[in-house]
Amino acid sequence: ADTHLLQFKGFWLMPELVKAVEAIKTQFNPLPTDIILASFPKSGTTWLKALTFSILNLSNSSNQLVLTQKNPHEIIPFLEMETFGENPSRKVDDLNSPRIFNTHLPYPILSDKIKTSGCRIIYIRRNPADTFVSLWHFYNKILGTQVSLEQAFDEFCRGCVPGGPFFEHVLGYWQEREKKNIFLLKYEELKKDPTELVGKLADFLGCSLNFEEIQEVVSKCSFDKLRMSNGNRDEADDNIHWTGASFDSFFRQGVVGDSKNYLTTEMVQKLDLITNQMWDLEGLI
Ligand code: A3P
Repeated sequence: ADTHLLQFKGFWLMPELVKAVEAIKTQFNPLPTDIILASFPKSGTTWLKALTFSILNLSNSSNQLVLTQKNPHEIIPFLEMETFGENPSRKVDDLNSPRIFNTHLPYPILSDKIKTSGCRIIYIRRNPADTFVSLWHFYNKILGTQVSLEQAFDEFCRGCVPGGPFFEHVLGYWQEREKKNIFLLKYEELKKDPTELVGKLADFLGCSLNFEEIQEVVSKCSFDKLRMSNGNRDEADDNIHWTGASFDSFFRQGVVGDSKNYLTTEMVQKLDLITNQMWDLEGLI
C-alpha cells in the first residue's frame, strides 16, 4: 500500500501532494488573519474543523446552520488538494475572512511564507495506537481492498504512510510550541474535558466565550451531531471527499482506546518503544 508514496524531505507524501507543496510555496499568500488547522490524518481533523468554525461563527446563526447540514470538510478546504492541488475545487480568494484551511503537511514542509505570516496554526494530535487503527480502517474503506492489520502496522512503524513518519509529524509541530501563533491540542484531552479545551481554543482564536457559549459549541460539534449532518444524504450525491471516501467515513467510533481491540501486546510494546525513542527523549508527552 505504500508503493505510491514519494519521499520528500524526510516525509512520505502522495505524489500529488509533492506538486501541491510547490504550488503553495509559489502561489499561496498567507494572511496574518488566516487559520491553519494542521494534523496527521485521523487525529481529529474533522472535529477540529467543526469546533473552529463553530467558535468563529457563534453569533452567525445561518452559518451555525451550515454545520448541521454539511460535513466540516465541505466547509473548510484542505489546503494542499482542494486549493493548490492539480485540480483545485476551491479558490482561496473566494473564502471569507478569516480564511480557514486544513493541512496534513508536516511542519518542516510548510512554506516559509506560512511560517512567517503570523497566521494562527492549530495542531491536533492523537495517541499513536488509536491514530494507526483509525487510519487502517479509513484506508481500507477508501481503497476497498483489505490491507492486513499486520502489514499496515509495519508500514506505520516504518513511517511509510501519507504524511509519515507519524512520530516526526507530531514532533515537528511540538517543537514550535513556544510560538505565540501556534496552539497544540490532544484528541484525548479534548475528549476528556471538551469544555476546558474549547475555552482555550476560543481564547487562542481571539473569541472569548462564556460558559454557555462554550457548551453550545461542544454540543454542536459532538460526534453524534456531526455524524447526523451526514445523515439523510443521498450516497449517489456528490457526497464524496476528495480522497474518494464518503463523508460519513470520517465518523467511525470517536473514542479513546479503541485500538486495544485490534493490537496485540507485541504491537503495543513496539509503539511504546518508538514513542520512547522518538518522543520521551525529546520531552514530548
Ligand atoms: P476513529 O476512527 O477512531 O473513530 P480525522 O478527522 O483526522 O480524519 O479523524 C477521524 C477520527 O476522529 C475518527 O476516529 C472519527 O471517528 C473521530 N471523530 C470525528 N468527529 C469526532 C467528534 N466530533 N468527536 C470525537 N471524535 C471524532
